[in-house]
Amino acid sequence: MDIAIVLLAAGQGTRMKSEQPKVLHQVCGRPMVEYIVSAAETLKPKQFVAVVSPASAEQVSAALPRSAETVIQEDALGTGDAVRCALPLLKDFGGTIVILCGDTPLVTGDTLTDLVKKHKEREAAATVLTAKVDDATGYGRIIRGDGGVKRIVEHRDATEMELHIREVNTGTYCFDAAKLAAALQEITPANSQKEYYLTDVIGIFFDHREKVVPFQVEDSLETMGVNSRAQLADAEMIMQERINRAHMANGVTMIHPALTYIDAGVTIGSDTVIHPNTFINGATVVGSGCLLGPSTRVVESEVGDGCEITFSVVREASLADGVTVGPFANVRPGTKVGTKGKIGSFVETKKATIGAGSKVPHLAYIGDAEIGSDVNIGAGTITCNFDGTAKHKTTIGNGAFIGSDTILVAPVKVGKRAYTGAGSTITKDVPDDSLGVERTDQRVIKNWRKREEPGA
Ligand code: UD1
Ligand code: MG
Repeated sequence: MDIAIVLLAAGQGTRMKSEQPKVLHQVCGRPMVEYIVSAAETLKPKQFVAVVSPASAEQVSAALPRSAETVIQEDALGTGDAVRCALPLLKDFGGTIVILCGDTPLVTGDTLTDLVKKHKEREAAATVLTAKVDDATGYGRIIRGDGGVKRIVEHRDATEMELHIREVNTGTYCFDAAKLAAALQEITPANSQKEYYLTDVIGIFFDHREKVVPFQVEDSLETMGVNSRAQLADAEMIMQERINRAHMANGVTMIHPALTYIDAGVTIGSDTVIHPNTFINGATVVGSGCLLGPSTRVVESEVGDGCEITFSVVREASLADGVTVGPFANVRPGTKVGTKGKIGSFVETKKATIGAGSKVPHLAYIGDAEIGSDVNIGAGTITCNFDGTAKHKTTIGNGAFIGSDTILVAPVKVGKRAYTGAGSTITKDVPDDSLGVERTDQRVIKNWRKREEPGA
């Protein structure tokens, strides 16, 4: 059976009270519309039409698949009007139109597949995805009759009696293309919102004795619509639980899943243990056998196998196998740490390559630096990379030893196996195997204490 998708994403999202188009608000690090798009793609549609608003067209289109066609709904006159706007693009399509809403990110591809299957088996004119919910506030109610759906009544237009119905419309449907187009000619804005409701098509079908089949979803959480910030938070929580459960099924240990925040699209190897209050964001890849957290944030980074990151922030960085970070490190963009490297406590790094086995264990700033392998950077070392106008580079060769409290005034090079004396301000290059030391000789003044204590 040929499938065409019509995705409704032109609503104003008034209840979000936001400058941003509703369907672009993020759920677990992704615009919510992207979830429904990937669910839709499991149906392998022949055509994919998205209805967008003039204000959001450009931004929303960027979140859609390349094959998607977009149509602009000039004024948000209701869901029925939105579908009507899509019809000219579907005039040569004669199969099943699946209508989806951009604000239902929790609907899965499996559910859509089952919906289409039911629609086909029952040879229905329309099949409505419904859900039984505890709190039906805001949703359209399903009025059943004659073994099918008689009509859908919106919350605002429902009678006292109808408001007691707990079976709701999820906003997801299958329609016979030709019958949908014909019924859309008949809808009117005679309702409390003065909008053209897509849901009115169901009543029209019933009146024309067309078969409308309800398909009740097993997990009602799937069909939640996001219309407000509170619902956005609910969706985030449900999606987070789904993501976390999938990682646990793949062999990741989470000490407290409800306090573990992982974006969609993150990959994590098996036997990695994640402690609470840890955030893993963007397209981060974490290897196996790692220990992350507690209280750690890893953003858009690559983390190898057997790494340990604790009480730290790692952003746009790449850590090879066996690297340790923290506690209390700030690993900033462009940091690359080689195998078994160490970034210790109260260390900040930025745009720095730190070679295999090299250690920056305590209280240091390493920025715009190229550090070889097996280098030891003493406590308190600072790369002075910025002269007030431009950034400059510090280069340190393999096996070098940087004494504590060294100030490296870039541009500067410290050679292989070279040393810097503790407390030195290094402004000139130090050749291989040499010592760079810059400090005055120590003076010792004997009996100083006597001077301090008059009469002693
Ligand atoms: C809609 C359904 C309701 C259902 C609920 C499920 C109607 C009339 N009501 O209500 O029965 O229970 O979804 O979540 O269909 N949109 C447009 N153009 C418009 C208006 C809306 O593209 O002019 C889009 C929105 O961007 C959104 C979707 O259609 O993605 C649904 O619109 P929304 O305003 O959220 O409808 P609900 O009040 O949630
Ligand atoms: Mg909605």
